[in-house]
Amino acid sequence: MKHISIGELDVSRIGLGAMSMSGYYNIGDGSDEESIRTIHRAIDLGVTHIDTAEIYGPFTNEELVGRALKGRRDQVVLATKFGLVSHASGGPRVIDSHPTNVRTAVEGSLRRLGTDHIDLCYQHRVDPNTPIEDTVGALAQLVVEGKVRYIGLSEAGSATIRRAHAVHPVAALQTEYSLWTRDPEAELLPLLRELGIGFVPYSPLGHGFLTGEIRSPDDLSDDDWRKTNPRFTGDNFQRNLRIVDEVKAVATEVGSTPAQIALAWLLAQGDDIAPIPGTKRVARVEENTAADGVELSVGQIERLNNLTPAVGERHDEGNMAVIDR
Ligand SMILES: NC(=O)c1ccc[n+]([C@@H]2O[C@H](COP(=O)([O-])OP(=O)(O)OC[C@H]3O[C@@H](n4cnc5c(N)ncnc54)[C@H](OP(=O)(O)O)[C@@H]3O)[C@@H](O)[C@H]2O)c1
Repeated sequence: MKHISIGELDVSRIGLGAMSMSGYYNIGDGSDEESIRTIHRAIDLGVTHIDTAEIYGPFTNEELVGRALKGRRDQVVLATKFGLVSHASGGPRVIDSHPTNVRTAVEGSLRRLGTDHIDLCYQHRVDPNTPIEDTVGALAQLVVEGKVRYIGLSEAGSATIRRAHAVHPVAALQTEYSLWTRDPEAELLPLLRELGIGFVPYSPLGHGFLTGEIRSPDDLSDDDWRKTNPRFTGDNFQRNLRIVDEVKAVATEVGSTPAQIALAWLLAQGDDIAPIPGTKRVARVEENTAADGVELSVGQIERLNNLTPAVGERHDEGNMAVIDR
Protein backbone atom coordinates (compact mmCIF):
# COMPACT_ATOMS: atom_id res chain seq x y z
CA MET A 1 0.00 0.00 0.00
CA LYS A 2 1.38 3.41 -0.96
CA HIS A 3 1.74 6.04 1.75
CA ILE A 4 1.27 9.79 1.55
CA SER A 5 1.57 12.74 3.94
CA ILE A 6 -1.38 14.67 5.24
CA GLY A 7 0.24 17.72 6.74
CA GLU A 8 3.31 16.06 8.28
CA LEU A 9 1.47 12.86 9.12
CA ASP A 10 2.33 9.69 7.19
CA VAL A 11 -0.69 7.50 6.36
CA SER A 12 -1.58 4.67 3.98
CA ARG A 13 -3.34 6.47 1.16
CA ILE A 14 -6.45 4.31 1.69
CA GLY A 15 -7.72 4.30 5.26
CA LEU A 16 -10.70 2.73 7.01
CA GLY A 17 -13.73 4.59 8.34
CA ALA A 18 -15.33 2.82 11.29
CA MET A 19 -18.63 4.73 11.48
CA SER A 20 -20.87 2.10 9.84
CA MET A 21 -19.69 -0.46 12.45
CA SER A 22 -21.88 1.35 15.00
CA GLY A 23 -25.07 2.26 13.16
CA TYR A 24 -26.15 4.76 10.51
CA TYR A 25 -26.28 2.33 7.54
CA ASN A 26 -28.39 -0.86 7.50
CA ILE A 27 -28.44 -0.88 11.26
CA GLY A 28 -28.44 -4.40 12.66
CA ASP A 29 -26.38 -5.83 9.81
CA GLY A 30 -22.95 -7.09 10.75
CA SER A 31 -21.56 -7.75 14.21
CA ASP A 32 -18.83 -6.40 16.48
CA GLU A 33 -16.86 -9.60 15.83
CA GLU A 34 -16.91 -9.04 12.05
CA SER A 35 -16.12 -5.35 12.55
CA ILE A 36 -13.06 -6.22 14.62
CA ARG A 37 -11.98 -8.78 12.02
CA THR A 38 -12.40 -6.03 9.40
CA ILE A 39 -10.10 -3.66 11.29
CA HIS A 40 -7.51 -6.43 11.76
CA ARG A 41 -7.69 -7.40 8.07
CA ALA A 42 -7.26 -3.76 7.07
CA ILE A 43 -4.10 -3.51 9.17
CA ASP A 44 -2.80 -6.79 7.72
CA LEU A 45 -3.36 -5.34 4.24
CA GLY A 46 -1.28 -2.27 5.08
CA VAL A 47 -3.99 0.22 6.13
CA THR A 48 -2.51 2.49 8.80
CA HIS A 49 -5.26 5.13 9.03
CA ILE A 50 -8.36 4.38 11.13
CA ASP A 51 -11.10 6.97 11.55
CA THR A 52 -13.72 7.14 14.30
CA ALA A 53 -15.55 9.86 16.31
CA GLU A 54 -17.00 10.47 19.75
CA ILE A 55 -20.49 10.85 18.24
CA TYR A 56 -20.45 7.47 16.45
CA GLY A 57 -22.65 5.32 18.64
CA PRO A 58 -22.32 7.75 20.49
CA PHE A 59 -19.18 6.49 22.22
CA THR A 60 -19.54 2.80 21.29
CA ASN A 61 -17.59 3.12 18.04
CA GLU A 62 -14.52 4.42 19.85
CA GLU A 63 -14.86 1.57 22.35
CA LEU A 64 -15.04 -0.95 19.49
CA VAL A 65 -12.02 0.56 17.72
CA GLY A 66 -10.16 0.59 21.04
CA ARG A 67 -10.88 -3.14 21.53
CA ALA A 68 -9.77 -3.93 17.98
CA LEU A 69 -6.51 -2.03 18.41
CA LYS A 70 -5.43 -3.77 21.63
CA GLY A 71 -1.86 -4.85 20.97
CA ARG A 72 -1.84 -3.10 17.55
CA ARG A 73 -2.19 0.52 18.59
CA ASP A 74 1.28 1.47 17.37
CA GLN A 75 0.59 0.13 13.86
CA VAL A 76 -1.98 2.82 13.04
CA VAL A 77 -2.62 6.53 12.82
CA LEU A 78 -5.71 6.81 15.00
CA ALA A 79 -8.06 9.65 14.14
CA THR A 80 -11.12 10.73 16.10
CA LYS A 81 -13.40 13.76 16.32
CA PHE A 82 -15.05 15.86 19.01
CA GLY A 83 -17.59 18.66 18.97
CA LEU A 84 -20.91 16.91 18.28
CA VAL A 85 -21.47 16.02 21.93
CA SER A 86 -21.89 18.80 24.47
CA HIS A 87 -20.74 17.56 27.86
CA ALA A 88 -21.80 20.77 29.61
CA SER A 89 -25.38 20.73 28.39
CA GLY A 90 -27.39 19.07 25.66
CA GLY A 91 -25.44 15.85 25.16
CA PRO A 92 -25.16 14.10 21.78
CA ARG A 93 -25.88 16.04 18.57
CA VAL A 94 -25.33 19.42 20.22
CA ILE A 95 -22.44 21.32 18.65
CA ASP A 96 -19.91 22.40 21.27
CA SER A 97 -16.25 23.21 20.70
CA HIS A 98 -15.78 25.34 23.82
CA PRO A 99 -12.26 24.71 25.19
CA THR A 100 -13.68 22.98 28.29
CA ASN A 101 -15.72 20.64 26.10
CA VAL A 102 -12.72 19.89 23.88
CA ARG A 103 -10.72 18.72 26.88
CA THR A 104 -13.55 16.63 28.33
CA ALA A 105 -14.19 15.02 24.95
CA VAL A 106 -10.53 14.21 24.33
CA GLU A 107 -10.12 12.69 27.81
CA GLY A 108 -13.17 10.49 27.12
CA SER A 109 -11.90 9.46 23.68
CA LEU A 110 -8.50 8.50 25.11
CA ARG A 111 -10.22 6.32 27.73
CA ARG A 112 -12.52 4.58 25.25
CA LEU A 113 -9.77 4.09 22.66
CA GLY A 114 -7.45 2.67 25.33
CA THR A 115 -4.57 4.91 24.36
CA ASP A 116 -2.57 7.80 25.79
CA HIS A 117 -2.57 9.83 22.57
CA ILE A 118 -4.77 10.58 19.57
CA ASP A 119 -2.75 10.89 16.36
CA LEU A 120 -5.22 13.12 14.54
CA CYS A 121 -7.92 14.92 16.48
CA TYR A 122 -10.57 16.72 14.44
CA GLN A 123 -13.21 19.25 15.27
CA HIS A 124 -16.26 17.48 13.77
CA ARG A 125 -18.30 20.58 12.92
CA VAL A 126 -17.44 24.24 13.30
CA ASP A 127 -19.10 25.72 16.39
CA PRO A 128 -20.68 29.09 15.55
CA ASN A 129 -20.70 29.99 19.26
CA THR A 130 -17.00 29.44 19.92
CA PRO A 131 -14.27 31.33 18.05
CA ILE A 132 -12.14 28.79 16.16
CA GLU A 133 -9.06 30.39 17.73
CA ASP A 134 -10.27 29.28 21.19
CA THR A 135 -10.94 25.72 20.02
CA VAL A 136 -7.59 25.40 18.28
CA GLY A 137 -5.89 27.00 21.29
CA ALA A 138 -7.33 24.21 23.47
CA LEU A 139 -6.14 21.60 20.97
CA ALA A 140 -2.67 23.17 20.84
CA GLN A 141 -2.47 22.82 24.63
CA LEU A 142 -3.39 19.11 24.30
CA VAL A 143 -0.57 18.78 21.74
CA VAL A 144 1.84 20.27 24.27
CA GLU A 145 0.62 17.71 26.82
CA GLY A 146 1.20 14.86 24.35
CA LYS A 147 -2.46 13.80 24.30
CA VAL A 148 -2.93 14.85 20.68
CA ARG A 149 -0.29 14.67 17.93
CA TYR A 150 -1.96 16.50 15.02
CA ILE A 151 -5.13 18.49 14.67
CA GLY A 152 -7.78 18.50 11.97
CA LEU A 153 -11.02 20.18 10.94
CA SER A 154 -14.11 18.65 9.36
CA GLU A 155 -16.51 20.48 7.03
CA ALA A 156 -14.80 23.80 7.77
CA GLY A 157 -14.97 26.63 5.22
CA SER A 158 -11.97 28.53 3.84
CA ALA A 159 -12.05 31.44 6.28
CA THR A 160 -12.21 29.11 9.29
CA ILE A 161 -9.35 27.00 7.94
CA ARG A 162 -7.14 30.08 7.54
CA ARG A 163 -7.94 31.33 11.04
CA ALA A 164 -7.33 27.92 12.61
CA HIS A 165 -4.07 27.36 10.75
CA ALA A 166 -2.77 30.72 11.96
CA VAL A 167 -3.07 29.52 15.59
CA HIS A 168 -1.63 26.02 15.14
CA PRO A 169 -0.81 23.99 12.00
CA VAL A 170 -3.83 22.05 10.75
CA ALA A 171 -2.74 18.65 9.40
CA ALA A 172 -5.94 17.67 7.60
CA LEU A 173 -9.38 18.72 6.49
CA GLN A 174 -11.98 15.95 6.45
CA THR A 175 -14.90 16.76 4.20
CA GLU A 176 -17.20 14.85 1.85
CA TYR A 177 -15.58 14.32 -1.54
CA SER A 178 -16.33 11.69 -4.13
CA LEU A 179 -17.37 11.18 -7.74
CA TRP A 180 -20.80 12.58 -6.90
CA THR A 181 -19.68 15.33 -4.48
CA ARG A 182 -17.16 17.53 -6.22
CA ASP A 183 -17.72 20.73 -4.20
CA PRO A 184 -14.24 20.87 -2.58
CA GLU A 185 -12.50 21.25 -5.94
CA ALA A 186 -13.39 24.90 -6.54
CA GLU A 187 -12.08 26.60 -3.42
CA LEU A 188 -11.04 24.16 -0.71
CA LEU A 189 -8.47 22.01 -2.50
CA PRO A 190 -6.46 25.00 -3.81
CA LEU A 191 -6.48 26.53 -0.31
CA LEU A 192 -5.35 23.28 1.34
CA ARG A 193 -2.51 23.01 -1.18
CA GLU A 194 -1.49 26.61 -0.54
CA LEU A 195 -1.31 25.93 3.21
CA GLY A 196 0.17 22.39 3.05
CA ILE A 197 -2.87 20.78 4.65
CA GLY A 198 -3.85 17.22 3.68
CA PHE A 199 -7.33 16.23 2.55
CA VAL A 200 -9.29 13.26 3.92
CA PRO A 201 -12.40 12.64 1.80
CA TYR A 202 -15.22 11.13 3.83
CA SER A 203 -18.01 9.06 2.26
CA PRO A 204 -15.74 8.38 -0.74
CA LEU A 205 -18.18 5.69 -1.94
CA GLY A 206 -21.15 8.08 -1.79
CA HIS A 207 -22.41 6.35 1.39
CA GLY A 208 -22.29 3.09 -0.57
CA PHE A 209 -24.35 4.32 -3.55
CA LEU A 210 -21.40 4.45 -5.96
CA THR A 211 -20.61 0.76 -5.38
CA GLY A 212 -23.70 -0.28 -7.34
CA GLU A 213 -24.87 -2.54 -4.49
CA ILE A 214 -27.86 -0.32 -3.70
CA ARG A 215 -30.34 -0.44 -6.57
CA SER A 216 -33.60 0.34 -4.77
CA PRO A 217 -34.68 2.21 -1.61
CA ASP A 218 -35.83 -1.22 -0.40
CA ASP A 219 -32.16 -2.19 -0.10
CA LEU A 220 -32.01 0.18 2.89
CA SER A 221 -33.56 -0.68 6.26
CA ASP A 222 -36.18 1.74 7.59
CA ASP A 223 -33.88 3.14 10.28
CA ASP A 224 -31.03 3.61 7.81
CA TRP A 225 -29.71 7.21 7.87
CA ARG A 226 -29.72 7.29 4.06
CA LYS A 227 -33.54 7.05 4.04
CA THR A 228 -33.52 10.76 4.91
CA ASN A 229 -30.73 11.79 2.53
CA PRO A 230 -32.05 13.76 -0.48
CA ARG A 231 -29.94 11.77 -2.96
CA PHE A 232 -31.47 8.49 -1.78
CA THR A 233 -35.09 9.63 -1.72
CA GLY A 234 -37.96 10.06 -4.18
CA ASP A 235 -37.16 10.47 -7.87
CA ASN A 236 -33.58 11.43 -7.06
CA PHE A 237 -32.76 7.83 -6.21
CA GLN A 238 -33.69 6.55 -9.67
CA ARG A 239 -32.07 9.47 -11.46
CA ASN A 240 -28.80 9.02 -9.55
CA LEU A 241 -28.60 5.37 -10.65
CA ARG A 242 -27.40 6.72 -14.00
CA ILE A 243 -24.16 7.78 -12.29
CA VAL A 244 -23.63 4.27 -10.96
CA ASP A 245 -24.14 2.79 -14.39
CA GLU A 246 -21.50 5.12 -15.82
CA VAL A 247 -19.04 4.13 -13.05
CA LYS A 248 -19.83 0.47 -13.72
CA ALA A 249 -19.01 0.88 -17.40
CA VAL A 250 -15.52 2.17 -16.50
CA ALA A 251 -15.13 -0.63 -13.95
CA THR A 252 -15.91 -3.25 -16.58
CA GLU A 253 -13.33 -1.71 -18.91
CA VAL A 254 -10.66 -1.66 -16.17
CA GLY A 255 -11.56 -5.12 -14.83
CA SER A 256 -12.27 -3.83 -11.32
CA THR A 257 -15.34 -3.03 -9.21
CA PRO A 258 -17.25 0.28 -9.07
CA ALA A 259 -16.06 0.81 -5.46
CA GLN A 260 -12.46 0.48 -6.62
CA ILE A 261 -13.06 2.95 -9.45
CA ALA A 262 -14.56 5.49 -7.05
CA LEU A 263 -11.48 5.21 -4.83
CA ALA A 264 -8.93 5.11 -7.67
CA TRP A 265 -10.43 8.30 -9.09
CA LEU A 266 -9.98 10.05 -5.73
CA LEU A 267 -6.38 8.83 -5.44
CA ALA A 268 -5.71 10.20 -8.91
CA GLN A 269 -6.66 13.69 -7.69
CA GLY A 270 -3.36 14.10 -5.83
CA ASP A 271 -0.77 12.79 -3.40
CA ASP A 272 -2.30 14.78 -0.56
CA ILE A 273 -5.65 12.95 -0.63
CA ALA A 274 -6.31 10.05 1.76
CA PRO A 275 -9.87 8.65 1.50
CA ILE A 276 -11.37 6.64 4.36
CA PRO A 277 -13.95 4.25 2.85
CA GLY A 278 -16.19 2.74 5.50
CA THR A 279 -17.16 -0.89 5.88
CA LYS A 280 -17.86 -3.43 8.57
CA ARG A 281 -17.06 -6.47 6.40
CA VAL A 282 -13.78 -8.23 5.73
CA ALA A 283 -14.54 -8.95 2.05
CA ARG A 284 -15.27 -5.29 1.37
CA VAL A 285 -12.17 -3.98 3.12
CA GLU A 286 -10.18 -6.36 0.91
CA GLU A 287 -11.96 -5.04 -2.18
CA ASN A 288 -11.58 -1.39 -1.21
CA THR A 289 -7.94 -1.65 -0.18
CA ALA A 290 -7.08 -3.26 -3.53
CA ALA A 291 -8.03 0.05 -5.20
CA ASP A 292 -4.47 1.09 -4.33
CA GLY A 293 -3.35 -0.98 -7.31
CA VAL A 294 -5.97 0.25 -9.80
CA GLU A 295 -4.58 2.58 -12.48
CA LEU A 296 -6.96 4.73 -14.51
CA SER A 297 -6.02 6.06 -17.94
CA VAL A 298 -6.27 9.79 -18.70
CA GLY A 299 -9.34 9.01 -20.83
CA GLN A 300 -11.04 7.09 -18.01
CA ILE A 301 -10.37 9.89 -15.53
CA GLU A 302 -11.83 12.32 -18.05
CA ARG A 303 -14.98 10.21 -18.42
CA LEU A 304 -15.33 10.03 -14.63
CA ASN A 305 -14.81 13.80 -14.37
CA ASN A 306 -17.77 14.22 -16.69
CA LEU A 307 -20.23 11.90 -14.96
CA THR A 308 -23.86 12.97 -14.84
CA PRO A 309 -24.05 15.31 -11.79
CA ALA A 310 -25.88 14.03 -8.71
CA VAL A 311 -29.46 15.13 -8.11
CA GLY A 312 -30.24 16.31 -4.57
CA GLU A 313 -28.25 17.99 -1.80
CA ARG A 314 -25.61 15.82 -0.15
CA HIS A 315 -27.27 16.16 3.27
CA ASP A 316 -30.76 16.99 4.50
CA GLU A 317 -31.62 20.58 5.43
CA GLY A 318 -30.70 20.23 9.12
CA ASN A 319 -27.31 18.75 8.39
CA MET A 320 -26.56 21.26 5.61
CA ALA A 321 -27.37 24.10 8.02
CA VAL A 322 -24.50 23.17 10.35
CA ILE A 323 -21.89 23.05 7.61
CA ASP A 324 -19.47 25.97 7.72
CA ARG A 325 -19.07 27.79 4.40
N1 LIG B 1 -16.43 14.05 9.09
C1 LIG B 1 -17.69 13.73 8.89
O1 LIG B 1 -18.60 14.53 9.11
C2 LIG B 1 -18.01 12.36 8.38
C3 LIG B 1 -19.30 12.05 7.86
C4 LIG B 1 -19.54 10.77 7.38
C5 LIG B 1 -18.51 9.81 7.42
N2 LIG B 1 -17.30 10.12 7.95
C6 LIG B 1 -16.17 9.13 7.99
O2 LIG B 1 -15.98 8.64 6.67
C7 LIG B 1 -16.03 7.22 6.67
C8 LIG B 1 -16.58 6.72 5.35
O3 LIG B 1 -17.82 7.35 5.03
P1 LIG B 1 -19.22 6.60 4.97
O4 LIG B 1 -19.15 5.35 5.77
O5 LIG B 1 -20.23 7.62 5.29
O6 LIG B 1 -19.43 6.29 3.44
P2 LIG B 1 -18.70 5.45 2.30
O7 LIG B 1 -17.36 5.03 2.72
O8 LIG B 1 -18.87 6.26 1.09
O9 LIG B 1 -19.67 4.18 2.16
C9 LIG B 1 -19.89 3.29 3.22
C10 LIG B 1 -21.04 2.40 2.85
O10 LIG B 1 -20.71 1.63 1.71
C11 LIG B 1 -20.78 0.24 1.98
N3 LIG B 1 -19.59 -0.35 1.32
C12 LIG B 1 -18.30 -0.17 1.63
N4 LIG B 1 -17.50 -0.81 0.76
C13 LIG B 1 -18.29 -1.42 -0.13
C14 LIG B 1 -18.07 -2.23 -1.25
N5 LIG B 1 -16.85 -2.53 -1.65
N6 LIG B 1 -19.16 -2.71 -1.94
C15 LIG B 1 -20.41 -2.40 -1.55
N7 LIG B 1 -20.70 -1.63 -0.49
C16 LIG B 1 -19.64 -1.14 0.23
C17 LIG B 1 -20.74 0.12 3.48
O11 LIG B 1 -21.51 -0.99 3.90
P3 LIG B 1 -20.99 -2.02 5.05
O12 LIG B 1 -20.50 -1.20 6.18
O13 LIG B 1 -22.20 -2.79 5.36
O14 LIG B 1 -19.92 -2.80 4.39
C18 LIG B 1 -21.41 1.41 3.94
O15 LIG B 1 -22.81 1.26 3.91
C19 LIG B 1 -16.93 6.90 7.88
O16 LIG B 1 -16.71 5.58 8.34
C20 LIG B 1 -16.47 7.93 8.88
O17 LIG B 1 -15.29 7.50 9.52
C21 LIG B 1 -17.04 11.38 8.41
